[in-house]
Amino acid sequence: MSQTPPTQDELKTMVAQAALAYVIPGEYLGVGTGSTVNKFIDALAASGVSIKGAVSSSLASTQRMASLGIPVVDLAQVDRMSVYIDGADEIDAHGYMVKGGGAALTREKIVAAQADQFVCIADASKRVQVLGAFPLPVEIIPMSAPEIVRRFQAMGGVATLRIANGQPLVTDNGQYLLDVKGLSITDPLAFENTVSQWPGVVTVGVFAHQHAHVCLLGTPQGVQSLVY
Ligand code: A5P
Repeated sequence: MSQTPPTQDELKTMVAQAALAYVIPGEYLGVGTGSTVNKFIDALAASGVSIKGAVSSSLASTQRMASLGIPVVDLAQVDRMSVYIDGADEIDAHGYMVKGGGAALTREKIVAAQADQFVCIADASKRVQVLGAFPLPVEIIPMSAPEIVRRFQAMGGVATLRIANGQPLVTDNGQYLLDVKGLSITDPLAFENTVSQWPGVVTVGVFAHQHAHVCLLGTPQGVQSLVY
């Protein structure tokens, strides 16, 4: 008799639960954004594990944690964190990721940069050979949009402004987002360096410098721990 394979939602729940093993009681914890992280936040609240405070990467995660009684602190109050836990839109064999599907890439990169260990929680659909099939999010200063669209076009990419409710989506930082299709990011470190230097780019959603150190990957066979 064959068993029904777990759904993507169940895989997210599995990795969210597994991430609790990386939470250090009594310490500050960095917390990302997205549907997988939402499950982690719920699991953390239900676990009863007491942390000193969570550094949040978005208004959405802040609101969810506050509503569940998890103390949220400002990044400025924290020098370093041991651990940052977040999802990804894509992750490759080196722990390099594409992030920003939930529009929180800039704060995610800032918080991740102040953590010693990035623990990525993801279902198996996020594991890729080469980054770029997921449209790459890039947060930009609005007036720079036309030139940045042209620069991606020269690389073979098609960049479009992210729209929400008929208007350009405005990030938590008051900026716009481009989503770039058609890229094949074979050298994520070099790509991140290049695009980050374009005038008007706030943050590119390639996380190569702030790569994952561990990925808890939810598969039908269970949670795999991948270490980079
Ligand atoms: C948020 O901006 C993103 O970086 C998320 O971490 C990423 O989109 C993963 O989200 P899901 O867990 O919802 O797939």
